[in-house]
Amino acid sequence: MVAQFTASTLLSIASRNIGVRSLSTSFQRCSKVAVLGASGGIGQPLSLLLKNNALVSQLSLYDIAHTVGVAADLSHINSKAVVNGYAGADQLKQALSGCDVVVIPAGVPRKPGMTRDDLFNTNASIVRDLVDACAENCPKAMLAIISNPVNSTVPIASEVLKKKGVYDPKRVFGVTTLDVVRANAFVAEAKKLDPNTVNVPVIGGHAGITIIPLLSQTTPSVKFTNEEIDKLTKRIQDAGTEVVKAKAGAGSATLSMAFAGARFVNSLLLALSGKPNVTECAFIKSDVTESSYFSTPLVLGKNGVEKNLGLGKLSDYEQKAVNACLSELKNSIKKGEQFVGK
Ligand SMILES: NC(=O)c1ccc[n+]([C@@H]2O[C@H](COP(=O)([O-])OP(=O)(O)OC[C@H]3O[C@@H](n4cnc5c(N)ncnc54)[C@H](O)[C@@H]3O)[C@@H](O)[C@H]2O)c1
Ligand SMILES: *[C@@H]1O[C@H](CO)[C@@H](O)[C@H](O)[C@H]1NC(C)=O
Ligand SMILES: *[C@@H]1O[C@H](CO)[C@@H](O)[C@H](O)[C@H]1NC(C)=O
Ligand SMILES: *[C@@H]1O[C@H](CO)[C@@H](O)[C@H](O)[C@H]1NC(C)=O
Repeated sequence: MVAQFTASTLLSIASRNIGVRSLSTSFQRCSKVAVLGASGGIGQPLSLLLKNNALVSQLSLYDIAHTVGVAADLSHINSKAVVNGYAGADQLKQALSGCDVVVIPAGVPRKPGMTRDDLFNTNASIVRDLVDACAENCPKAMLAIISNPVNSTVPIASEVLKKKGVYDPKRVFGVTTLDVVRANAFVAEAKKLDPNTVNVPVIGGHAGITIIPLLSQTTPSVKFTNEEIDKLTKRIQDAGTEVVKAKAGAGSATLSMAFAGARFVNSLLLALSGKPNVTECAFIKSDVTESSYFSTPLVLGKNGVEKNLGLGKLSDYEQKAVNACLSELKNSIKKGEQFVGK
């Protein structure tokens, strides 16, 4: 008994010391996180999950409307993060100043009569203007972009930051974590594994055939038949449609996206706090393939992307999928870059 007591006391003292040494800077630096589009279908549950994150000390909720109510509601939760709501463009500066991480799920859904181009232009303009404000008010913040089309909104964000002279490609991320979360869930379900322990890297872009799950690199190592690979890959690529159909006109993936967004922000915060070897996939500026943006597993650190882990060893099926997505991906990147150019 005595020996046990001593051992556990030592252990707790030791872990407290480690805590003080490696985490004190993070807790003192008090991470401020902003959610832009915080009143939306993704924004609200994402804000709830961030309010519950011990690494967040200040949570700024920004939208064109309703954020004061969302903030009042969340502020009654007895967790540390201090929540403030900001509504309308004249409060954006205040929402962003001093932010360490900015996550952007803002957008305007399709309205009757909107063309494909209108649809692109609305979200593209929103992201352009929000990132412009980030460049002015928190140029060093990590930017996590959820707004679709991610394959174009990330190049848009980069071009805006370049124009402002504050572009750091290591700090701009297209959030593709939902593809990873789905791949993990579907593989665990198919193979009867604990979903918490499964990790499937997902590379490429964030739409249709550009979403490439690397089932051959699944950990723990799993064997799949060719048929299973094809079925799982297509299910992961079309998972968004699965939710849209099931919701039958009442929306798209919001809760699972909020979970995925909160996981990605948590990883950024852990990396900022000095935790080593934090790994996530994200769509970033990249020279891994001939597409100038590409999602691959990344090691995150205090300054954003610390190391791009690249493609790893691909199966023939995966290599073919990479080859097949490049031209489409390059086109949507060009579309994003040209949008800011004009
Ligand atoms: N990356 C992913 O995996 C993924 C997954 C699902 C959805 N999405 C995308 O996330 C975005 C949000 O989806 P949602 O379902 O929450 O949509 P939503 O329409 O419910 O919410 C969007 C919110 O953005 C706000 N908004 C509009 N203009 C704004 C502006 N100028 N500044 C700040 N906020 C503004 C709206 O008021 C609304 O509250 C969409 O672009 C969607 O396609 C991405
Ligand atoms: C723009 O965002 C809305 C959500 O606000 C989403 O429904 C729509 O699909 C997005 N547009 C594009 C082109 O992805
Ligand atoms: C870092 O993480 C990767 C991927 O999760 C793992 O393969 C590797 O062993 C880790 N390295 C260290 C130093 O912990
Ligand atoms: C980019 O995203 C948009 C909308 O999500 C999609 O219509 C387009 O096909 C995508 N392009 C690629 C290459 O994925």
